[in-house]
Amino acid sequence: MPVGLRQERRYGLDMANDTHDFRTGSDSRTLRDALGCFGTGVTVVTTLDRDDQPVGLTANSFTAVSLDPELLLVCLSRQSQTLPWFQRAEAFAVNVLHIGQQDVAQLFATPGADRFEKTEWQSWSTGVPILGDSLANFECAKFAEYDGGDHIILLGRVIRVRYDAEQDPLLYFRGSYRELHFD
Ligand SMILES: Cc1cc2nc3c(=O)[nH]c(=O)nc-3n(C[C@H](O)[C@H](O)[C@H](O)COP(=O)(O)O)c2cc1C
Repeated sequence: MPVGLRQERRYGLDMANDTHDFRTGSDSRTLRDALGCFGTGVTVVTTLDRDDQPVGLTANSFTAVSLDPELLLVCLSRQSQTLPWFQRAEAFAVNVLHIGQQDVAQLFATPGADRFEKTEWQSWSTGVPILGDSLANFECAKFAEYDGGDHIILLGRVIRVRYDAEQDPLLYFRGSYRELHFD
């Protein structure tokens, strides 16, 4: 048996029938579907391009990282057209969407769309786009950038935050937008 591999062991009940298995080398669809079991919120990550024009894309890879210092991260695909602007930017914003913003999520995930034509935004101290009417906005100074395989991991240090304590989040689970439904 190769080093690092162990005989599989089972304890207690067998797993339910409707489960799926991924091993290294399996169809990556199964891995994607497994990752999709982790429900997330939905954000639009924004920055400015070379001409100080707003750019951004929908991203659900947002994660809180640290309170001291105040850090968060988002993973951006190397295929993203806007990635070069995030790589040269000194600042970016993460705009967390509320349940009424599914159209915004769709718009910022549509290639070629004029994403800011009908999107209301403002700027704070760094100039990066802060989307109006969001559930929360995090304005960040870029803290670090790491290799994340076919994505890059962008770490931001939070400069300023605004949030709405009333609205429900827009959620994403198993490839579909969702809403909270427990009381
Ligand atoms: C719900 C949802 C979540 C997404 N999350 C990410 C993400 O975390 N990182 C990413 O790079 N793309 C993500 N995407 C895909 C991009 O939004 C999409 O490919 C977009 O068109 C990229 O725009 P760009 O090529 O102009 O940068 C997501 C799309 C959707 C609908």
